[in-house]
Amino acid sequence: MSYPQYCPSPRELDDLELLTSGALSPISAFNQPDSPVTLSLPTDVQAAAESAGGVELVDPEGLPLARVSVPDGSVEPLTHAQHGPFRRYYLSPAQVREQHPGRTVVPVVDALSDHQLKQLASAGPVLLLAFVGTGTPDLRPTALIRATLAAAAHLQDAAVVAVPLASREDATVDHALGAQVARTYAAGAQVLALPGSGDGATYSPDISTIIEADRPGPDEQGLVLFFTGLSGSGKSTLAQALMDRVLEQGNRTITSLDGDVVRRNLSAGLTFSKADREINIRRIGWVAAEISRHRGLAIVSPIAPFDETRQQVRTMVEEAGGAFILVHVATPLEECERRDRKGLYAKARRGEIPEFTGISSPYEAPQDADVRVDTTGRTIDDALQDVIDALAEAGYLDLRSPWSSVEQRRASAPTASLANR
Ligand code: ADX
Repeated sequence: MSYPQYCPSPRELDDLELLTSGALSPISAFNQPDSPVTLSLPTDVQAAAESAGGVELVDPEGLPLARVSVPDGSVEPLTHAQHGPFRRYYLSPAQVREQHPGRTVVPVVDALSDHQLKQLASAGPVLLLAFVGTGTPDLRPTALIRATLAAAAHLQDAAVVAVPLASREDATVDHALGAQVARTYAAGAQVLALPGSGDGATYSPDISTIIEADRPGPDEQGLVLFFTGLSGSGKSTLAQALMDRVLEQGNRTITSLDGDVVRRNLSAGLTFSKADREINIRRIGWVAAEISRHRGLAIVSPIAPFDETRQQVRTMVEEAGGAFILVHVATPLEECERRDRKGLYAKARRGEIPEFTGISSPYEAPQDADVRVDTTGRTIDDALQDVIDALAEAGYLDLRSPWSSVEQRRASAPTASLANR
């Protein structure tokens, strides 16, 4: 009987790689008692895996990586991960024993400071073991490898090895696993755990450049502005007005993914069933997350009635390194229905449109909105100001200048020059 296929989470993929390389020794299988190295399967996959005796783990492109026995968790590798930046630095403990025997192993989780480099200068031949798994806190994996390579160049004799040890978001567990992995790589040689660099640490210029490039200020970061609300609440109008302001200012590139526009292209053919709406929002979220990865700005304005799907988009964007701002356009149903600009509410009331949001399909008001605007009885500019203020306060996007101030200066210039005389 063939095994069901399953693409595990990024953390589980990292663990798989370490299990097959022997880096987690003595842990050599998933789901051992009291072990933090776990694999959890969705209920349907779990059931199929139990009756087949195992599961085939595949990478996000569908390449089979390993077979995992169920329930004992033992792993039979099929292929090794071959792609990804700096792959050549990902060595197994056995490869390290062969290529770099006897070096003092130094676990590295962040860029090395001047002070830390000084400590290492007298440590003899070292192996800088960069922990670059999912969720590692400070620098992104490629930046941490880059910074570690730069640090190695400051030392007499240092080799660099990358290990995809993922963070489990429990400092004690992370620390214990890190120490274990370092001992495995050291294979009897010394392990040198550097104390943290602390606040106020200084870095050599080449390392600083790498750190700064990896941590854009909030005004340079990718940003997704997600407007959610009922049909006719004013989402698209607000989003459009905000987009105009961004274009007037001219500091950033911007993509608009309006609900109705997306449904004519990216999501053409989808219905308004719950399942299709979720697909629609996840598509929008996927595109927006990619835009934010490149430090762009995306303004999206679908109804997005379901809390869980909105949360998924938030996670997708944050994982891509972008910031996510949820704007709830909280104009009440009565007002949206009174406006009924497209005549859809009347049709929905007559039963001509099934599953219409607010009438015959639910809208879950967000509890996690960063801004909430009710457009009832307000002008667009007035309502927009609430969003602009919140964005400026959060430090992401300051649309209060410069055109508004240039216009003000032009208006006040003659008076000012008269007053100066
Ligand atoms: S969502 O629920 O999937 O987020 P989306 O924003 O893409 O919805 O599309 C909403 C737009 O589709 C509305 O502004 C309205 O013009 C139109 N529409 C057509 N049928 C429906 C429906 N059953 N419910 C809500 N909007 C609908």
